[in-house]
Amino acid sequence: MSNALNDEDREEQTATGGVDTDAGGVTTSGESEEEVHDEWTDYEFDGEAKLSVTDLDVWYGDDHALKGVSMDIPENSVTALIGPSGCGKSTFLRCLNRMNDRIKAARIDGSVELEGTEIYDANANLVELRKRVGMVFQSPNPFPKSIRENISYGPRKHGDIEKGLLARLFGRDDTDEEADLVERSLKQAALWEEVSDRLDDNALGLSGGQQQRLCIARCLAVDPEVILMDEPASALDPIATSKIEDLVETLAEEYTVVIVTHNMQQAARISDQTAVFLTGGELVEFDDTDKIFENPESQRVEDYITGKFG
Ligand SMILES: Nc1ncnc2c1ncn2[C@@H]1O[C@H](COP(=O)(O)OP(=O)(O)OP(=O)(O)O)[C@@H](O)[C@H]1O
Ligand SMILES: [Mg+2]
Repeated sequence: MSNALNDEDREEQTATGGVDTDAGGVTTSGESEEEVHDEWTDYEFDGEAKLSVTDLDVWYGDDHALKGVSMDIPENSVTALIGPSGCGKSTFLRCLNRMNDRIKAARIDGSVELEGTEIYDANANLVELRKRVGMVFQSPNPFPKSIRENISYGPRKHGDIEKGLLARLFGRDDTDEEADLVERSLKQAALWEEVSDRLDDNALGLSGGQQQRLCIARCLAVDPEVILMDEPASALDPIATSKIEDLVETLAEEYTVVIVTHNMQQAARISDQTAVFLTGGELVEFDDTDKIFENPESQRVEDYITGKFG
């Protein structure tokens, strides 16, 4: 964590009023003695919650990276996660499909339910979970294979398509199904027009923006319900970024999208609701995006959004 205080130090400093603050009672990293009110994160919405997170804590060794985060994420919408570097956005996102399980130092406590079923249950099927809750990372990471194989790899692994010699021998050749799936996924990711005549070319020959849309197509190919995106456009130029933004808005008609972004305008443009995390791993406010950007409850959120720190 960017600040090296442990909980005891922090409690002691708060008790003695010892936190250094600049004008407005907020430090440059957004810490203050402002109390977080439960109702600031108690977001009420119509429709169902796709994901329900309750009292989620994450530690990396002794670092307490996320503190008691609770939030309900509505289905078929875009939820933006914003906040200064190191506040735990990626950590939170990775908790939603148990990607943090892969980090040895990480310890997680709390509950995450996907449509009412606990994903941290000891019997949870992780392959199935990550099929239902897909992820797109900050840097595009296509496999060093053809464009076609990048798309069909996941469905083949899950046994949804079978092709090749063995499949032909057993009379289960799904080559046509594969072609349909590749076309559909690439169209959904707004990439088909650009690559339809070179599906057998290596995916690493695509531009950065095309690679990122390929990764989104790869994620869509396994038919997920939730798509987690960690700053998917931060390495892209403005034109490629706006393609990804348009795409995210379209995806929300069918999928539940949770996106981390450092770009406030992007969050304001594409999301339906916004969650603001601040330094120390706290979720401070979660509400309709318009409300967060126009009239937040928390002074620290207002300071962050207006660029006073972070
Ligand atoms: N694999 C890890 N091992 C140890 N500590 C980690 C690990 N990943 C994250 N952390 C720590 O947890 C805290 C939250 O990190 P996280 O990456 O979730 O922040 P973030 O909000 O995504 O930041 P950024 O905006 O810079 O991506 C930081 O203090 C970070 O150093
Ligand atoms: Mg991050």
